[in-house]
Amino acid sequence: MIGLGTMGAGIAEVFARAGIGVVAMDVDATALSRGIGTLDASLSRAVTRGRLTAAEQAQIRGRIRPAAGFSEAAAVDLAVEVVPERMEIKREIFAELDRVCSPDAILATNTSSISVTAIAAASKHPGRVIGMHFFNPAPVMRLVEVVSTVLTTDGVVATVSDLARHIGKTPVHVGDRAGFIANALLLPYLNHALYLMASGYGSREDIDLAATAGIGLPMGPLALLDLIGLDTALSIMEVLHGEFGLPRYNPTPLLRRLSDAGLTGRKAGRGIYDYAGAGKDDHQSGNEDASAAAPKTVTLIGAGDDVEAELASAIATAGINVTRNAAHPSDLVLIAAEAGRPVLPASLAAGRPQQSVGLKVIGKLAEGTLAEVVQTSLSSPGAIAAGTGLAAKLGLVPIHAPDRPGFLVGQLLYAHLADAVRMCQDGYSNPTEIDTAMKLGCGYPRGPFELIDAAGAATVLTGLEAMYEAYGYPEFAPPPLLAEHAAAAIPFSAGPRPGR
Ligand code: 3HC
Repeated sequence: MIGLGTMGAGIAEVFARAGIGVVAMDVDATALSRGIGTLDASLSRAVTRGRLTAAEQAQIRGRIRPAAGFSEAAAVDLAVEVVPERMEIKREIFAELDRVCSPDAILATNTSSISVTAIAAASKHPGRVIGMHFFNPAPVMRLVEVVSTVLTTDGVVATVSDLARHIGKTPVHVGDRAGFIANALLLPYLNHALYLMASGYGSREDIDLAATAGIGLPMGPLALLDLIGLDTALSIMEVLHGEFGLPRYNPTPLLRRLSDAGLTGRKAGRGIYDYAGAGKDDHQSGNEDASAAAPKTVTLIGAGDDVEAELASAIATAGINVTRNAAHPSDLVLIAAEAGRPVLPASLAAGRPQQSVGLKVIGKLAEGTLAEVVQTSLSSPGAIAAGTGLAAKLGLVPIHAPDRPGFLVGQLLYAHLADAVRMCQDGYSNPTEIDTAMKLGCGYPRGPFELIDAAGAATVLTGLEAMYEAYGYPEFAPPPLLAEHAAAAIPFSAGPRPGR
């Protein structure tokens, strides 16, 4: 293991836990002992939590041998490079490995932002150079992207994939393209979330809640940026932008500024959130008015569909009077909001736009999920507070969203799903592998294609069309493959169609 930073220490732990001996190296003795300290802390935490016995800890630790220099790597079967993402450092390391390792040893890189092909080409034996891309935290996340280049020998892919399985990971084989599967999908979504925060579209907490309580992801995008490191995220975005050139991959200026300022996230004690105190300075919700009194009487305006009926019944069950009469002097006019349909026209038609907000329930109302309180340009602070109080009274988690296509959840999700469809349309991967990568690499409970199938391709298409029409950004342009699935009503789980 060359490089014992957070990822290197985690990967070394994974190998040692699987019974494999590890020779651990870093740039100097201080870096090495810091890395071993990280590893020891992780193993001790596992013992404290009752996941390992002290004897097992000692055995695992006994398999890890700190090494002073490359000469100690002479007998290894596999070298894994996990050093900073600078080509000149990697070139030096692969030259040393070429010199000391036996010719049939495999040389792997955990790089996420330098082309594996460029690293391989710098080696004397490029056929044995491969990417083994782990995910943070390495002991927990089960994905390993096995990245082959045009130079990689066939047997090497099979050996490394078997090894990944042996250490308890699931390998997904990909070609050498910027971001591989997971980063190419994850990072633009995180970058877009930061843009939404920087532009004031949504608050930090609401954006993270939209992802966790709304989409069911294990972490919000802003908290995840802090975990990955804003400097790392920036370099991945730069590589994606260099490779694909689209505006979607342009790093949000705030990402660069925070990174330049050294506010790189958890590892620096501060990034988008502040970690200097006892814990992350977050709240469950950024809505100070979540405790605002719920209205006593609500005028409900909907499309006369099930969504409206369900909302009416929930409001009545909560002990709030519901009327459909727009002229009634109720405390709040509530527009049952729907994807792809703005709230403002309905609130104008009701004649009391100041007292109106939209409410978009994500998921099943009865399950206490997320509710977007949609404010138009005319909604008064009182109406917004009343809408928020109402959502809380219904047992929902309220967040605020402007009356723009996609509201907040759709803004985050639809472009992300479109990226996944485009990756498939490009022939780089397929729905099964993309879903596996996002579930095992990023902890998604459902992969992008499972999310599309659950919502219906037509719903995602409508959302994207509305966003594309309003903004004109290419990232919102619905991919033809999505339109085909929507038109033919074929779920992605049905597999590839004849002729593909
Ligand atoms: N090291 C070791 N173990 C850790 C850990 C760490 N840093 N963080 C958490 N764990 C372990 C805990 O000990 C616990 O194990 P246990 O059940 O045996 O006690 C388990 O993970 C769950 O941890 P917690 O209960 O504390 O926390 P959560 O349930 O909230 O899970 C999480 C934490 C696993 C980080 C989860 O939030 C998650 O899956 N987040 C998404 C992470 C993600 O997307 N990673 C990919 C980033 S992209 C990347 O790495 C690529 C790179 O190129 C940028």
